[in-house]
Amino acid sequence: MSIIENLSWRYAVKRMNGNVVSEEKIETLLDAIRLSASGFGLQPYQIFVIQNPELKAKIQPIAYGQPQVVESSHLLVFAAWNEVTEEKIDAFMNLVAETRGLPLEALADYRGAISGSMAHRPKEMQANWAARQVYLAMGTALAAAAELKIDTTPMEGFVPAKLDELLGLEAKGLHSVLMLAIGERDEASDYMVNAAKVRTPSNELYEKL
Ligand SMILES: Cc1cc2nc3c(=O)[nH]c(=O)nc-3n(C[C@H](O)[C@H](O)[C@H](O)COP(=O)(O)O)c2cc1C
Repeated sequence: MSIIENLSWRYAVKRMNGNVVSEEKIETLLDAIRLSASGFGLQPYQIFVIQNPELKAKIQPIAYGQPQVVESSHLLVFAAWNEVTEEKIDAFMNLVAETRGLPLEALADYRGAISGSMAHRPKEMQANWAARQVYLAMGTALAAAAELKIDTTPMEGFVPAKLDELLGLEAKGLHSVLMLAIGERDEASDYMVNAAKVRTPSNELYEKL
């Protein structure tokens, strides 16, 4: 199938049937998300993969009772860094050096660019920048899941402060940004299953110069 067919097949599922998605597919999806682009390549986030039904049940009221939370096979919580510290930049530079077989000194300009770019931003702006990278990872996840024929619901309909508290994110220097319910659409009960896609017409969305 073409990418356009797969992206047309996907939609934000409102009801899932509780079927478990195979570990093989989940691992492929997680690999795809890991390959997402991010500013400087920093990937300033962590992703929690939740299968535990009791934990999902605790999250559901925090997500305004949305049924996909408990009907999903897996629930991902995307949490962004609260700040981009020098330690985190160092850890990243070590990873680059090790992965590419380079001495750290060869990466001095790269490190300087990251550090310089972050230095003039207050902590809240760093957190905001990190959250924007999460949205990009979500885009990758949605496209990859469509390709794998896995149903998903991207979700920002939850109370982040409550989810942070439940998952102890503050202590990890993280804050929740998005969730992704992963599973299988319930054709019988999902009122959006046959809804036509609503998108801005091409001639309005694009201006060719
Ligand atoms: C960042 C983001 C947050 C969203 N939050 C929710 C949500 O909390 N619950 C939900 O059912 N759908 C949510 N959606 C789904 C959108 O409403 C949906 O993607 C949009 O209406 C376009 O429809 P489609 O994705 O089905 O083609 C979210 C989508 C995005 C991209």
